Amino acid sequence: MILPIYVYGQPVLRMEAEDITPDYPNLKELLTNMYETMERADGIGLAAPQVGLPIRVVVVNLDVMSDDMPEFKGYRRAFINPYILETAGEMVSMEEGCLSLPGVHESVKRPDKIHVTYLDEEMNKHDEWVEGFLARVMQHEFDHLGGTMFIDHLSSLRKQMIKGKLNNMLKGKARCSYKVKTLK
Ligand code: NI
Repeated sequence: MILPIYVYGQPVLRMEAEDITPDYPNLKELLTNMYETMERADGIGLAAPQVGLPIRVVVVNLDVMSDDMPEFKGYRRAFINPYILETAGEMVSMEEGCLSLPGVHESVKRPDKIHVTYLDEEMNKHDEWVEGFLARVMQHEFDHLGGTMFIDHLSSLRKQMIKGKLNNMLKGKARCSYKVKTLK
């Protein structure tokens, strides 16, 4: 089932998401719906708050990037209760977008390596270092679980430049090809 994607201005995007327990009701169904919603919207990542749920659940699909990055062929994963324990490496700039911020694309500086823990779809615990593109996607998605959006990392000048677009979203004007839930 395709879920509406909550857009900038929705309070759930600013909440601190909570860990879930293994007996969280209908988790498999939620993950299926999140994958479907993300893929229909051509996203590479989706965090549960973006579908209105303040819980620590994220799905990622990097298969769509595999023409340029063959290591991600077939890469589709869920991350449950993820946490970034530490970061390392250089700060790297790359353009980001977000399904909750349609039409906004800005360069964001993030560390290249992260030490993460999470549970996979089968509730197996992982503790690993991740780097490069996946580390960037994880940081963007896991930020959502703390109520942070990528625009929070921009300089005040860049924030000023996108203010008009953000105000339009607050007024319920979001231009995109997928189903959204705006504040108004
Ligand atoms: Ni996002």
